[in-house]
Amino acid sequence: MVNIRRAKPEDLLAIQSCNLSCLPENYQMKYYFYHILSWPQLMYVAEDSASTPPKIVGYVLAKMEEEDNPADIHGHITSLAVLRSHRKLGIADRLMTAAHFAMRESFRAGYASLHVRKSNAAAKHLYVESLGYKIHDIEAKYYADAEDAFDMRKRFVEAAESLSSRASSSKRLTGPAL
Ligand SMILES: CC(C)(COP(=O)(O)OP(=O)(O)OC[C@H]1O[C@@H](n2cnc3c(N)ncnc32)[C@H](O)[C@@H]1OP(=O)(O)O)[C@@H](O)C(=O)NCCC(=O)NCCS
Repeated sequence: MVNIRRAKPEDLLAIQSCNLSCLPENYQMKYYFYHILSWPQLMYVAEDSASTPPKIVGYVLAKMEEEDNPADIHGHITSLAVLRSHRKLGIADRLMTAAHFAMRESFRAGYASLHVRKSNAAAKHLYVESLGYKIHDIEAKYYADAEDAFDMRKRFVEAAESLSSRASSSKRLTGPAL
């Protein structure tokens, strides 16, 4: 069974190891410490409790962007990865949902942003089709190897409105509960 929980400082080595095995964008340990010390609410791990000892099989690393305009308060997904052995089980979806919830509840964020490689079809599917992100911009040669990035955003208010309108239209279809 895979649980999603807040990351602890003792998870950071396993998070770094997961990052190294999944992504070409890697970070020094001090960058992980910076995140967990600054925004401990926004770092989550997926832990497989069927392993002995339990094993970290995925993580999401996120931060808040410093903005002068309070209307523009938003979170940013710095990094997300799930070990190959545990993919397509809904783990990334659960990690992202936990980070979004914390951005809204702890920081009153209006939206979340992220960058993703144009060629990363799996992540693009997750962000756009499963989580409701929209392409905001394209950043040319954003990555070290000169690949372009999609700059994506997910507005939380719109997401909440579309959920409630879906709920009310399904109520209209099914009629009131008796
Ligand atoms: C992208 C990644 C995090 C997805 O993790 P995951 O746990 O397998 O994703 P989920 O199981 O939550 O899948 C969420 C959705 O994406 C879809 N998806 C996942 N992998 C996919 C793939 N290879 N191709 C197409 N769709 C894919 C799932 O089918 C699911 O869609 P649904 O909601 O319509 O059913 C994982 O593939 C990974 O770690 N990749 C390497 C690191 C990376 O690219 N990180 C993102 C950097 S921006």
